[in-house]
Amino acid sequence: MSEISMQEKLSAIVKNALDSMNGAQTLDALNDIRVNVLGKKGELTAVLKGMKDVAPEDRPKVGQMVNEARDTIEKTLETVKTKLESEKLERQLAEEIIDVTLPARKVEVGHRHPNTIALEEVERIFIGMGYEVVEGPEVEYDLYNFEKLNIPANHPAKDEQDTFYVTKDIVLRTQTSPCQAREMEKGRLPIRMLSPGRVFRSDEVDATHSPSFHQVEGLVVDKNITFADLKGTLAQFAKELFGPETKTKFRPHHFPFTEPSAEMDVSCFKCGGKGCRFCKGSGWIEILGCGMVHPHVFEMCGIDPDEYTGFAFGVGLERIALLKYEIDDMRLLYENDYRFLKQF
Ligand code: DAH
Repeated sequence: MSEISMQEKLSAIVKNALDSMNGAQTLDALNDIRVNVLGKKGELTAVLKGMKDVAPEDRPKVGQMVNEARDTIEKTLETVKTKLESEKLERQLAEEIIDVTLPARKVEVGHRHPNTIALEEVERIFIGMGYEVVEGPEVEYDLYNFEKLNIPANHPAKDEQDTFYVTKDIVLRTQTSPCQAREMEKGRLPIRMLSPGRVFRSDEVDATHSPSFHQVEGLVVDKNITFADLKGTLAQFAKELFGPETKTKFRPHHFPFTEPSAEMDVSCFKCGGKGCRFCKGSGWIEILGCGMVHPHVFEMCGIDPDEYTGFAFGVGLERIALLKYEIDDMRLLYENDYRFLKQF
């Protein structure tokens, strides 16, 4: 091929390339053009490959022309590329607007139910005294719920705790006290346990009753445990739960599985004991049942009552939550009304 026609051919390639590059609308289109001209199978590359057909004396000149053509094309390529890139950025900046002045979307963080808050508070106090938290089944044998707690068939105490019978021998537990029997039967002594959970009774729903509620059971078994240990422990619990000024009072009571038994009252944390609407004028609020583990219960659970003594207590969890938050209707705790629950 002669030098002249080579010159024409190169000019045509360059002109064509410049025209199409200047007309390219996108970076992709520009890249396609680059490949078509400068790529392995590109037009200019084809010319270079044809150098072998050029007369040796013309080669330096032709080589120079090819290089110039390449330079021109590459320069334009860069210019157009820069232009298209900045256009693309401009477009993105215009389209992808973030209005930093818009108020952030509020994330609603869930939180604990008042019952759970009360339970964790009770657990914290007793874990601090070295108690271990254990749980028992909600569907329980009559044997554990009644029999091993010294409540034999036909005992009047069974009447007060009427419940739902799955079969003659299996009930929905009426109290967390069966966890005492289960723990003692394991035979690992001494015991310092706390057992929270749901209990059931066939009670009508009203402001202070529900067929399903929660209790927290406590049990301590060791050598030389006395009623003084019971009083000291529960008085300390009351102080931690209701404040350091809280006084406690133990009234004699009856529970079949403890002897002696008591109910513990705390001085009203609202009026300090003077008497108010909250404590119904008495200055005291009933808070839990307790007592020394009955020797017969020990025997039925395989513990020697001559060697070991212990105390137990049972707290109504809802009662604690209602008192703590001054809620006067237990039903509110179960209705799952968000407006109520989010206050705590
Ligand atoms: N289980 C009893 C109830 O539901 C509460 C109770 C009283 C538990 C005395 C105890 C206890 O462990 O010693 O009424």
